[in-house]
Amino acid sequence: MPNVPADPHPQHARTAPASIGIFYGSTTGTTQLAATKIREQLGTLVTQFENVRKADPADLATHDLLLLGISTWNIGDMQDDWFDFLPRTEHLDLTGTTVALFAMGDAYGYPYTFLDAMGKLWTGIRNLGSPRLVGTWPITGYDFDESLAMHDDDHFVGLGLDHDNHPELTDERITRWVDKIRQETSLSPTPTHARNLAS
Ligand SMILES: Cc1cc2nc3c(=O)[nH]c(=O)nc-3n(C[C@H](O)[C@H](O)[C@H](O)COP(=O)(O)O)c2cc1C
Repeated sequence: MPNVPADPHPQHARTAPASIGIFYGSTTGTTQLAATKIREQLGTLVTQFENVRKADPADLATHDLLLLGISTWNIGDMQDDWFDFLPRTEHLDLTGTTVALFAMGDAYGYPYTFLDAMGKLWTGIRNLGSPRLVGTWPITGYDFDESLAMHDDDHFVGLGLDHDNHPELTDERITRWVDKIRQETSLSPTPTHARNLAS
């Protein structure tokens, strides 16, 4: 009998998520742009699309898959609306929920705090029960010195985007990341028309 490691998340069904919520915070609109492109790729699977400035925290607990988008401000801080919103989620239990993170930053302007807010957001969200994390992302191709968004030595906790310096990479990174999310959550592949919409 082979020695199969125990599933660390036995409560998480490996069936495709029936409900996807995208929640984002965005000060000048770039994270909102990314959120919109992600939504276009996932189509009708996205049942809620919210700016956290207006969202009800309880809604986070109503989805199988949460895609959470944030930017970093003020040298390592969470974007203002997330900064206000995250403490309001503290009563939630996201056990059984799958979570993926995406983030905007500026690696050239802020190389020692690149994407820090994504790490801070995950630290807050992971404490709400034990949500399953998908969509970690390789750091290859990013030029920075330090980040609180590291998952391990080679990966961010979620998708890193730098629309300030590399807008030409945003669409491709999003498409590849959404494909990864689809694989890790048993969703069917992105239809070609949705790929075209995002680019
Ligand atoms: C004052 C200021 C501070 C910033 N601090 C950081 C930072 O510490 N780390 C980082 O990766 N990006 C930082 N950025 C870059 C923003 O995260 C980036 O411009 C992002 O695209 C903004 O997204 P939003 O408009 O969706 O909020 C900073 C930008 C400004 C203007």
